[in-house]
Amino acid sequence: MKILIASPIDTQATRTMRARYDVVLALNAGPDELREAIRDREALIFRSGVQITAEVMAAAPNLKLLVRAGSGVDNIDLEYVRRRGLTLVRIPEPGAKAVAELTFALMLALSRHLLWADALTRQGRWAKHELNGYLLTGKTLGIVGAGNIGSRVGQMGAAWGMRVLGCVEHPTAAKALRLHQKGIRLTDLHEVLRQADFVCVHVPLKDSTVNLIDAEALALMKPSAVLVNMARGGVVDERALREALTSGRLRGAALDVHEREGEGHISPLADLPNVILTPHIGAMTVDSQREIGERIVETLEAFRAGSHVRPAATSL
Ligand code: MLT
Repeated sequence: MKILIASPIDTQATRTMRARYDVVLALNAGPDELREAIRDREALIFRSGVQITAEVMAAAPNLKLLVRAGSGVDNIDLEYVRRRGLTLVRIPEPGAKAVAELTFALMLALSRHLLWADALTRQGRWAKHELNGYLLTGKTLGIVGAGNIGSRVGQMGAAWGMRVLGCVEHPTAAKALRLHQKGIRLTDLHEVLRQADFVCVHVPLKDSTVNLIDAEALALMKPSAVLVNMARGGVVDERALREALTSGRLRGAALDVHEREGEGHISPLADLPNVILTPHIGAMTVDSQREIGERIVETLEAFRAGSHVRPAATSL
């Protein structure tokens, strides 16, 4: 099988694939380079950070299989995939564990001023009495998008002694029951925003979620609340967030995803002390990436053997 790897993935998986298949790597490639690299390929492996447009896929007449080494499908033209009948396989589970843990790390870091504490201590400043933080225990955690990742975060919050509220785009009684079993009460977006001390965003980026957290949504939040965006840049209006953070409308924010991502981009929030910024590292754990790599190899084997490949858990 002729494979194109368009994003960095686990090195062991890359080694295994190279031993078994004809593999080409085009990492961080622009549209022209990608169209060139994919020309004779049958399978494409990719993550976020690369745009899999109709033009890119159309340049590969033999393309049959797309493996999304993770969760989000906002960087692929799903309509084209559907029209052409390509097989798209997502591998969302391993990364979900890592994203949920990072969400917690960011909530804790914000609450206990960890970045400040570290920076000041390194400078010889003993700022113990300036670094009074907040507990998570006993607080309300609001999950915007209580799906695969969001419900994990909710479960962790419940275990941490938090009261957990969540919302989903299409609520049903069955979803409410499943979430209830994880310690999450299903409600609507407005109630989540109004009541939560910690609002974590975990929705996919699509037409209905662009600027979901805009000035109006931020105005519903408690001034003592913090916002954690683990979803996608574009879901949170960064200009409105900046305004909320500088005017005291919001205590703090952490963003792992940004409206503009990649080398050289500086967030419009970069100068704010009550903000933590990370470079889309939610799924970046050795364990998760190793597991994703193993699943990629299994998927390719199954596809080559003509056996059933688990279809994408998307609206395809
Ligand atoms: C994902 O959607 O799985 C994450 O954004 C991880 C990634 O692909 O970088």
